[in-house]
Amino acid sequence: MTAKVAIVTGAGRGIGLATVNRFLAEGWRVALLDIDEAALDAAMARIGRPEATVALRCDVADVDGIRAAVQQAAAHFGRLDALVNNAGTAVFKPILETTPEEWSRVIAVNLTGPFLATQAAAPIMAETGGGAVVNITSISGLRASTLRVAYGTSKAGLAHLTKQQAVELAALGIRVNAVAPGPVDTAMAKAVHTPEIRRDYHDAIPLNRYGLEEELAEAIFFLCSDRASYLTGQVIAVDGGFDAAGIGLPTLRAERRTDRTDLNPVRRDLL
Ligand SMILES: NC(=O)c1ccc[n+]([C@@H]2O[C@H](COP(=O)([O-])OP(=O)(O)OC[C@H]3O[C@@H](n4cnc5c(N)ncnc54)[C@H](O)[C@@H]3O)[C@@H](O)[C@H]2O)c1
Repeated sequence: MTAKVAIVTGAGRGIGLATVNRFLAEGWRVALLDIDEAALDAAMARIGRPEATVALRCDVADVDGIRAAVQQAAAHFGRLDALVNNAGTAVFKPILETTPEEWSRVIAVNLTGPFLATQAAAPIMAETGGGAVVNITSISGLRASTLRVAYGTSKAGLAHLTKQQAVELAALGIRVNAVAPGPVDTAMAKAVHTPEIRRDYHDAIPLNRYGLEEELAEAIFFLCSDRASYLTGQVIAVDGGFDAAGIGLPTLRAERRTDRTDLNPVRRDLL
């Protein structure tokens, strides 16, 4: 079989599952890795492509577990061309209430997991001339926010790990990039975004909406494809413009819809 092979971690649902479907639609074969066996079973049943998929239960933060799963995936399909480090976990708590255990677990899953998975995958990709790695970071790793001391710091670390990996693994023909999602209405977002937080996000996002899982999958697939052949070491925010925007966005947006002569000179400059 010459069809390309991708591993997607955290593939049981959400952005990971949408990414699996994107790869399959382009003729790739995919190994779905997830810590949640029930989610994996449900995903495999929904996909219904046993010849092009394999499901492997593992915790990306477990050194032996993730190494074994990467090797099993590559052995199952006979090659490996892309790795999407998508599995992530979130604890949203104030700094003074975040326990050392919560801090350690978030760093282990979100930062150490991609380090371990990439370390296991890179030599296998190199056997067929190289490949691509995409790490899923977050806008919480680009801009600080409340309650995200562990989550945001883990994602900022992952953004730098992306650059470290890109610089060193280029010698093996492996490109490494990151996608930083804005808010996407997945199970993770549903668990931590109250109606008030949802309204705030709308206010802070120029496109004025949450992203779709498929919109993230599109960017992730592009970075894994040959179309991105000269792209490495980058963090691409797929965030409706959140990272680009400054203060006062809702006010200015409203004012643009009204008579501009009402604006004072400072405001007019800002437009
Ligand atoms: N949804 C958002 O708004 C949003 C925003 C920014 C970044 N992200 C990031 O995107 C990625 C996917 O998020 P999502 O919203 O689809 O999440 P989700 O919670 O819907 O899905 C995450 C999947 O990862 C799996 N997983 C969790 N810990 C794991 C571990 N230790 N080992 C293996 N699998 C594990 C879960 O079982 C789940 O199937 C995450 O890295 C997340 O931090 C999401």
